[in-house]
Amino acid sequence: MTDQELHLLLEDMSLQEKIDQLLQLTADFYGKTDRDVVTGPASELGISMEDIDLAGSVLNGTGAKALMQIQDAYMDRHPHHIPLLFMMDVIHGYRTIFPAPIAQGASFDPEISKRAASVAARETSAAGIHVVFSPMVDLVRDPRWGRVMESTGEDPYLNSRFAAAQIHGFQGDDMKEDGKVCGCIKHFAGYGGAEAGREYNTVQVSEHTFREYYLPSYEAGIKAGAGMVMTSFNTVNDIPATINQKLMRQMLREEMGFDGVLISDYAAILETVAHGASSDKKDAAHKALLAGVDIDMMTGCYAGELAKLVKEGTIPESLIDESVLRILQLKNQLGLFEHPHKDADPEKEARYILCPEHRALAREAAAASCVLLKNDKVLPIRPSQKVAFIGPYIDNYEICSSWAVTGHPEDSVTIRQAAKELLPDSDLTFCHGTTLLPRDHVFAGFAEPNRAEEFYADVFADPEKALADAVAAAKAADVVILCLGEHYLQTGEATSRTELSLPENQMELFCAVKTVNPNVAVVLFNGHPLLLDELSRNAAAILQAWLPGTEGGHAILDLLTGTKNPSGKLPMTFPRNMGQIPIYYNHFSTGRPLTGTDPQRFVSKYTDTPNTPLFPFGYGLSYAEFSYSDVSLSSDSLTSEDSITASVQLKNTGACTGTEVVQLYIQDVAASTVRPVRELKGFTRITLTPGETQTVSFRISEAELSFHRADGSYGTEPGAFRVWIGGSSATENGTGFTLR
Ligand code: NOJ
Repeated sequence: MTDQELHLLLEDMSLQEKIDQLLQLTADFYGKTDRDVVTGPASELGISMEDIDLAGSVLNGTGAKALMQIQDAYMDRHPHHIPLLFMMDVIHGYRTIFPAPIAQGASFDPEISKRAASVAARETSAAGIHVVFSPMVDLVRDPRWGRVMESTGEDPYLNSRFAAAQIHGFQGDDMKEDGKVCGCIKHFAGYGGAEAGREYNTVQVSEHTFREYYLPSYEAGIKAGAGMVMTSFNTVNDIPATINQKLMRQMLREEMGFDGVLISDYAAILETVAHGASSDKKDAAHKALLAGVDIDMMTGCYAGELAKLVKEGTIPESLIDESVLRILQLKNQLGLFEHPHKDADPEKEARYILCPEHRALAREAAAASCVLLKNDKVLPIRPSQKVAFIGPYIDNYEICSSWAVTGHPEDSVTIRQAAKELLPDSDLTFCHGTTLLPRDHVFAGFAEPNRAEEFYADVFADPEKALADAVAAAKAADVVILCLGEHYLQTGEATSRTELSLPENQMELFCAVKTVNPNVAVVLFNGHPLLLDELSRNAAAILQAWLPGTEGGHAILDLLTGTKNPSGKLPMTFPRNMGQIPIYYNHFSTGRPLTGTDPQRFVSKYTDTPNTPLFPFGYGLSYAEFSYSDVSLSSDSLTSEDSITASVQLKNTGACTGTEVVQLYIQDVAASTVRPVRELKGFTRITLTPGETQTVSFRISEAELSFHRADGSYGTEPGAFRVWIGGSSATENGTGFTLR
C-alpha cells in the first residue's frame, strides 16, 4: 500500500475499529468455533466479542496452518479486511534453540548472534509469525535477577553490538522478505536495574547513569532499524515506564528517533494501577496513550476506555490515529496487506525446523558461548582415556531455558548421547550420582512438567547406591566430567533468587567424586552467574556451558574433546559471594579507592572479602595460550577531529590453534562527571596457530571518548586518558594518551 492509501484507510475506519487495532490478545481468543469466549477470559478483561473480532494483533499463537486459518477467518469478518499481526516470544530460537542470550553474549561474537537470529526468523516466519519479542537488551548487574539469562550482560557496548546484530538478523534489509520478521527491542527501559534483583521491582537510577549505561543498547537496536519497542514493567525514577512521558515521548521518540510501534509489556498498562500511578483502568489508558504506547498487550484498558475518553474530550482522537497509523505502517512494512500469510507455509515450516543447517549453527554458537574458567591441564580429554560422565546433567535434555517457548526440550542432544557419538571407541561410564535439586524442591506457581522422576529414577530409588556408583566410576576413571548446574526453571522471568550457590546435594557429589579422583572437570549449566568459589579452588577444570540450547551436548563434547577450542569470555562479573552483589567492572572510583592490597583502614573495601570478583568481566581461557605485547599508540595525543591507533602484538604461545577475544578498555581520568574506572570500547576475535603472532589494532576517536557531560550535552572533554588492551577487564596491559 502507498502511504496515501494507508491514510485513506485510516480515515475510513470507525473509532472502535481504530481503538481495537491497539488491542493485543492471546491466540486463545481465536480459532474457536463456538465463539463463546465472552463468558471466559474476555469478560475478565472487560472486552466484547466485537473487540475480539477487531483486535489488531495476537500473541503467542504458532504454527503456519493454525495461524493461516485464524488470519483468513479474521480478515473475512473485519470490515476493512485488515490483516492481523502475529507476535511471539522467540528469544533464542524458534524450534532450533540457540544458546541463551547471556551465553551468546559470552561469545563476544555478534555476527554469530546475527546468524542465529536470521535462522530463528526463517523458522518463525515459515510458522506464520510476523513479530518476535526479541532481542531483550536490558543491562544487568545483579545476578539475583532471574532474567539475567535473557540479556547479553553488564556492558553497554557489548549489549549494543548484540542488539544491533540481532535486529539485523531478524529483519534483514527488508522485513517484507521471506524468512524475515520484525524485531522488538525490550524492555524499555532500565528493567534490569530492579532493586535487589527482585523481579518487577523499582528502578531508581540517576539520569546520568541511565543514559551512560542503560540506554545505549536500546538506542543501538533502534538505530539498527527495530520496528518495535516494548515497554518495561518497572518504574523509572518514580514513574512506571509504561506511562512515563519523558521516557517514551522525549527519550525514545524525540531523542532516539524511534518511529515504530511501541507495545506495552503483558498487562503493563493496567499494572500502573497497582503501582499507585493510575487511579483506575481509564486513568491508566489515558496515561499510556499520552506516553505514546501504541499497543495494549492483554488488558481491556484501551479497548474499554479510550472511546469514553475521546467522547468526553479528555484525549483527542488524533492521538489514537497516530498509534493506529504506526500499526498499519508496520503491517504494510511486512507486506501483509498484499500477502496476509506472508511466507507462512506448513510444508516450509516442517522443512526448516531443526534442519541440519540450523542445527549446525546452533552447535557452532553453543561452542562459541562456553567459557573455560579454569583448566589445570585436565582438558581436553583424549580418546584413550577412561572417562566417567557423572552428574544430574548427563541425561537432562532441559538445557534450553524457560524462554525457549516454541522449542521442544526433547529435541536437545544430551551429554550422554553426544559422548557416545563422538567418543565411540573410548571407555566411558555414565552415572547420575544425584539429582539436580533435592527431591522435595517445589517450583511454586510453575505449570511446566517436573521431569525429575524421569531423569533421576535411579537416584530416587536408592540415593546411597547412586552416590556410591558415581564414586566408584570416578575412582576407576582417568578423568571425571561432572555435569552440574541450575534447573532451567531457576532462571527466566519471575525467578529471582537470594542464593546463587549450587544445591548442597550437588556439592556433596562434587566432594565425594573429588576425594577419589583429582581430575574432575566440572561442566556447568546455568543462566545466572553462580557462586563458584569452592569449585574454583577444588575442581581441576570448569567449563561454563550456560543453557546451551538444542545442540548443547554436541557443542560441549566438541570442546571437551578438543575438536573445538573454548573462546568465550564472561559477559557478566562472577562474584565471590552474595554480599558483593551488585558487582560490575565498569564502576566509578570512590574518593578512597583500594589500591592493590592496601592494608589501610579508611579505604573503600570490605573487611571480610576482597573487592575483586571471583572471575572478572571479559575473562575466559583457551587450550591455547596467548601473550600480549605492551600497548603501542600511533600518537600519544589526538584532537576530537582525528584518531589514533592502539595496537598490541598477540602471540599464540600454546600448542594448539585458538581464538582470543582481544579487548580494548579506556578510562577518562578526570571529567565534569565521574567516569568509570574503565569501559569496554572495542573487541575482536583473533584466531592464531601455535607460534603465530598478529598485530591487533583499535582506532580511538571521538566516538570512544564521548560521554554525557555535566551540562547534559554529549561529547568529549580534553585531558588524560588511559587505555588497556588485553584478554579481560582485569588486564593491566595499558598506557596513556591525551585528548587536546
Ligand atoms: C512478559 C515479558 O516480560 C516479555 O518479555 C514478553 O515478551 C511478554 N510477557 C510476552 O510474552
